[in-house]
Amino acid sequence: MNLILLGPPGAGKGTQADVIAARLKLAKLSTGDMLRAAVAEGSELGKKVKDIMVSGALVPDDIIIAMIRDRIKQPDCKNGYILDGFPRTLAQAEALDGMLAKEGTALDHVIELAVDDAALIERISGRFSCAKCGAGYNDKSKPTRKTGVCDACAGTEFIRRKDDNAATVSERLKAYHAQTAPLLPYYRKKGNLAAVDGMADIKDVERQIAVILGK
Ligand code: AP5
Repeated sequence: MNLILLGPPGAGKGTQADVIAARLKLAKLSTGDMLRAAVAEGSELGKKVKDIMVSGALVPDDIIIAMIRDRIKQPDCKNGYILDGFPRTLAQAEALDGMLAKEGTALDHVIELAVDDAALIERISGRFSCAKCGAGYNDKSKPTRKTGVCDACAGTEFIRRKDDNAATVSERLKAYHAQTAPLLPYYRKKGNLAAVDGMADIKDVERQIAVILGK
């Protein structure tokens, strides 16, 4: 099964992708995570994209498309994958269509997580993750069970993303509305778009997605 989670910054794409990947044994392909890893490594790619990401703008299509083209050839994608944060422009969506056609596979589902802009800013400002294992949390909606201790690995150091500040979030939202929202009619026309109420709590969104996936 191949699916896309589509939605604005902070809509819950990464949160839900983790759950679906673990439950259905699918690979989670997050372009944001891949780019952040490149920045952390200080690779050539990382140097190219660092300032763009801090500004909240989108990284150029050719870089992203090449990254995904390589990634979906990896063995862990054989049983299917969840695309989190890709595609984000019509050019990326068309490139993905070409990659899938070449492999003789197709997209099974495109799931839109619909969330109000005001809620996104609150969610993003509360987001943090474990520095050791990367498990994601939120000050309000998903705190650690024990204060200051990661539920998954018992790590005690946490980090907040550099682009999770008010100015960058506002640019990321602008980029979403101008460049990514046009993908909704694109996939609606293809007949594989379904929307979930992303304003619901995390468990409820999980249930809505399970109904769409039929598992
Ligand atoms: P990326 O990392 O993809 O960021 P994003 O799309 O802005 O999405 P986020 O990771 O912020 O949010 P999310 O929807 O995953 O929400 P989450 O589950 O964490 O991209 C970063 C940058 O990389 C871009 O700005 C761009 O520069 C570049 N980039 C990446 N891909 C690109 C591409 N394809 N093309 C060009 N450039 C690209 O949830 C957010 C918080 O809310 C968490 O704390 C979570 O616990 C909480 N939460 C989740 N669900 C709920 C819920 N239902 N109720 C309450 N709280 C919730």
